Amino acid sequence: MDSILIKGGEPLSGVIPIAGAKNACLTLMPATLLSEEPVTLTNAPRLSDIKTMSVLLRSFGAEVSLLNSGLVIAMSSQKLDNLRADYNIVRKMRASNLVLGPLLARAGEAVVSLPGGCAIGARPMDIHISALEALGAKIKLKDGYLYARAPLTGLKGGRHKMHFASVGATENFLMAASLAKGTSILENAAREPEIIDLVSCLRKMGANIEGEGTHTIIIEGVDRLDGVTHRVICDRIELGTYMLAPAIVGGEVTLAGGHLRLLTSFCEKLAEAGVDFSETVDGITVRQMHGEVQAVNVTTEVFPGFPTDLQAQMMALMCTAKGACYLEETIFENRFMHAPELIRMGADIEVKGGTAKVTGIKRLKGAQVMATDLRASVSLILAGLAAEGETKVNRVYHLDRGYEKLTEKLSSLGAVIERISD
Ligand code: UD1
Repeated sequence: MDSILIKGGEPLSGVIPIAGAKNACLTLMPATLLSEEPVTLTNAPRLSDIKTMSVLLRSFGAEVSLLNSGLVIAMSSQKLDNLRADYNIVRKMRASNLVLGPLLARAGEAVVSLPGGCAIGARPMDIHISALEALGAKIKLKDGYLYARAPLTGLKGGRHKMHFASVGATENFLMAASLAKGTSILENAAREPEIIDLVSCLRKMGANIEGEGTHTIIIEGVDRLDGVTHRVICDRIELGTYMLAPAIVGGEVTLAGGHLRLLTSFCEKLAEAGVDFSETVDGITVRQMHGEVQAVNVTTEVFPGFPTDLQAQMMALMCTAKGACYLEETIFENRFMHAPELIRMGADIEVKGGTAKVTGIKRLKGAQVMATDLRASVSLILAGLAAEGETKVNRVYHLDRGYEKLTEKLSSLGAVIERISD
């Protein structure tokens, strides 16, 4: 299994591109199942999760080609000859559950294994199930699979209020309701930029949707959806991660193609911590504050709050900030697995329930650490960039799920980092 070796302490400088958003692409790809016509995505990220979604879509009979070294995904779902999402594919990635709504809407039934994905909590499917039931679906759980069926006349419009603004359940509802008969209304909908991107793609396909980006989304079902070519938005989590790299180790880095409007709460916290950044036509430039980062309290929240997917990386920055702070995780119940690994590097962190108290120390020390999930892994990379001596991050396959060309990008900025096969 590959690991990543980092010799810490080198300041970073240069320009790196920000890829298309993994989480947008993973919901745009299943949207192809809604149409018999070709759907093409551009600016796609080159990630193992995208390959996993390609395998899953092909298992239903869709044609999926990764063109232009993976930057373009050409898909066609003219015929669907299998409606079962097998555990062997789904267990690799929770986002596989995003095929449930499209399959139900297009084919009237679906059998979808309960998902796997990052080990960051129980991650149940109850919100997805009740959202799709509001459209007339009947869903039963048997032997680890969800068996879902639409009425014989197809899904019908319905009104539903989610008890929590789940990103995936909002996406499943939107895709299913786009082909349902009549009007559907989703209340307490999630408002993430990736959902707005999905709606913009569905609208180009002929869907009739209003209210994305607000708490209430209204969908007027249509009989069929057309093909489309759509450009995936930039990955705000990759952007936030790389904004933290010069903040933690020093230097001046420009992140080409990034937009701050996707990361307002995160940027407010960075500014409060004393990190210097600005946006130009070229992207976002971050300059190091010469060890002047201040500790700031952070609470993760649904969008537009501080993203849970940047909590681990923010913790890495706080390990050497001035003072102490509290990081509270409210979205996932088990998302501090990076804390014990950061402690191995000398960090002063106490975890109690959903809150971690981090007291800044002068310098982290390189150590062997274990990557446990996607964002935890990258927090250890950030910590390694700043640490004194050598850090070895083991089990890095998690990183391939969400960060394209990570070692190449950081090396090009002057980091001493390499991937090694044991
Ligand atoms: C998406 C993102 C993920 C991000 C998360 C929260 C994708 C592919 N992944 O995941 O990177 O961390 O949003 O911003 O877009 N829950 C339930 N029942 C459900 C569904 C969710 O209890 O039916 C819980 C989950 O266990 C979790 C919380 O709700 O604690 C958030 O989940 P959700 O918003 O659905 O996240 P995902 O769509 O899985």
